[in-house]
Amino acid sequence: MKDIHRKCSHDYWDGIHVNYERAAILTDDWLESFADIIDSCSGPIADLGCGSGNDTLWLLSKGKEVIACDQSENAIRNIRKNFPEIREAKCFNMLDGLPFADASFELVIADLCLHYFRDDDTRRIIKEIGRILQPGGHLILRVNSVNDVNHGAGQGIELEHHVYELEDRTIKRFFDEEDVRRFFGDFEIVFLKEEIMTRYKLEKQLFRVCVRKKEGYRCAIANTGAI
Ligand SMILES: C[S@@+](CC[C@H](N)C(=O)[O-])C[C@H]1O[C@@H](n2cnc3c(N)ncnc32)[C@H](O)[C@@H]1O
Repeated sequence: MKDIHRKCSHDYWDGIHVNYERAAILTDDWLESFADIIDSCSGPIADLGCGSGNDTLWLLSKGKEVIACDQSENAIRNIRKNFPEIREAKCFNMLDGLPFADASFELVIADLCLHYFRDDDTRRIIKEIGRILQPGGHLILRVNSVNDVNHGAGQGIELEHHVYELEDRTIKRFFDEEDVRRFFGDFEIVFLKEEIMTRYKLEKQLFRVCVRKKEGYRCAIANTGAI
């Protein structure tokens, strides 16, 4: 079952990311509210689930070094074409773990890409992010809200609490505040707010979140390259 979901997600996103020109990429200013954290980051920033590169574009415009990552080969091909100045663009599936050494990043961005997984996979991917973050490092993210009715909240077959299988066999999770606090419970929550994003045709309700890896954070998963 999980293999079908994985393949359908890959094929869906690879189809979406067929060909993008840099000029067509829309950004919104959500990262602006974390400008102090982003400004003070001196190393590369991982943009997980980068898609067409909305956040990559914003970060590059601020002079940041970016490592853009996605499961979609087409997305990564577009990133390499549209952002020749990028440090690296890596194609991998987060379900296989994050192919980076422990404590490689001061800052990780995960914009609208951590809400496609069942509970156990979500927990393992978040653990992986904890592993690749330096102590005191930040993860800045946005995830679907349970109130995101314009984008499928509550629709499809409920596989687990707040997790739905859609007709095309992809999976979507919708978070409430308790879910966010539970999944990121090993981190210090620096910022957590439910809000509306207007970058899409229809308003999107989501959680904007920033968490910090605690100094004493214990990583349960060794860097074996797979989870
Ligand atoms: C809604 S788009 C977000 C793109 C971009 N971050 C943004 O906010 O515009 C979700 C992205 O996450 C990627 N993604 C979903 N599941 C993934 C996985 N298991 N591993 C790696 N990337 C994944 C998709 O390929 C897609 O590009």
